[in-house]
Amino acid sequence: MAEIIVTGGAGFIGANFVHHWRRVSPDDTIIVLDALTYAGNAANLDGLDQVELVVGDICDTDLVLRLLRERGVATIVHFAAESHVDRSITGPDAFVTTNVIGTHSLLKAAKTVWLDEGSGKPHRFHHVSTDEVYGSLGPEDPAFSETTAYAPNSPYSASKAGSDHLVRAYHHTYGLETTTSNCSNNYGPFQFPEKLIPLFTLNALSGKNLPIYGDGMNVRDWLHVEDHCLGIELILRKGRIGETYNVGGGQELPNLAVIEEVCKAVDAAFLRDPSLAVRFPAAPAAQGRSSLELKTFVTDRKGHDRRYAIDETKIRSELGYAPARDFPQGFAETLHWFLEREDWWKPLVERAKIAR
Ligand SMILES: NC(=O)c1ccc[n+]([C@@H]2O[C@H](COP(=O)([O-])OP(=O)(O)OC[C@H]3O[C@@H](n4cnc5c(N)ncnc54)[C@H](O)[C@@H]3O)[C@@H](O)[C@H]2O)c1
Repeated sequence: MAEIIVTGGAGFIGANFVHHWRRVSPDDTIIVLDALTYAGNAANLDGLDQVELVVGDICDTDLVLRLLRERGVATIVHFAAESHVDRSITGPDAFVTTNVIGTHSLLKAAKTVWLDEGSGKPHRFHHVSTDEVYGSLGPEDPAFSETTAYAPNSPYSASKAGSDHLVRAYHHTYGLETTTSNCSNNYGPFQFPEKLIPLFTLNALSGKNLPIYGDGMNVRDWLHVEDHCLGIELILRKGRIGETYNVGGGQELPNLAVIEEVCKAVDAAFLRDPSLAVRFPAAPAAQGRSSLELKTFVTDRKGHDRRYAIDETKIRSELGYAPARDFPQGFAETLHWFLEREDWWKPLVERAKIAR
């Protein structure tokens, strides 16, 4: 039995990871350190045993020191971040504070307890990062590998790049036992409604526009969050210390194709289940029309990266990683979850508006 700290474990990917870790390591105690910002939600952890929520800021080094010392924690899985690119354009300060200074605060505390105070035990600091640190690809460029040069373009990706460099430096300079993963766009249960997939899904259900930036041809690789959690588990169990692993879903799609898949799945769900028309009367699908009629082109995001793609050869060949779902299957599961969990997302739609 071990105790692990999951920072940002009340957010989207962190909460999915806590659920995943609870299943695969039932004896561990999981300490979630989360500041519960607009994106954090204690309800994401409902029903889990041996999960302790500590509401606090990763910038609070004394708090992290206390947790590490008092609880004998030897593993930190670090998800906590400001994560929404659009918000980083209008308000970059919080991104630098949490993503750069917050990550440094965790590294400092981990170094103090694990190295300077010298337990001598193996330890692990796993840092969760993004493919956005690599910048933007042209249509024919090879996908991002772990050796692609960093070229972040938004305040969000620049702050994540800064945090990646600090993790690297703490390994190379002090010997802290770190790993880093850079993943593509996640989707799945518990995703805050401001992000593209839940936004499109919930807008299709409520008859609101589906806003598409620019010409809709920005390409992303889509990764179901459960496949991402599996990748992180493999890195924690078998990854080499000091290494970085790219984690992708193998599903490169332009936004227009994403919206078409979302609309197709929503329309099909209404055809299969007539009660949806009663629950969501404003949806075009409730009147037998296509959700695609809600598609609306809006002014492009400033500095919008054109294409991201992930070369996941390293994690596949070294650790045996393989995503279990393609996008249609992963989205079908996600839609099913959102239809079942209106109690979860309804209050958050209001919160997403207020937080904007
Ligand atoms: N969502 C994606 O598609 C994606 C893709 C690549 C990488 N990532 C990375 O994965 C991680 C998790 O992303 P997410 O989508 O779950 O984010 P999220 O915004 O849903 O959740 C972030 C969580 O961190 C918490 N938090 C924020 N600031 C904090 C602070 N100062 N101290 C403690 N907790 C704080 C929030 O309360 C929230 O629970 C992030 O590091 C993000 O950069 C996300």
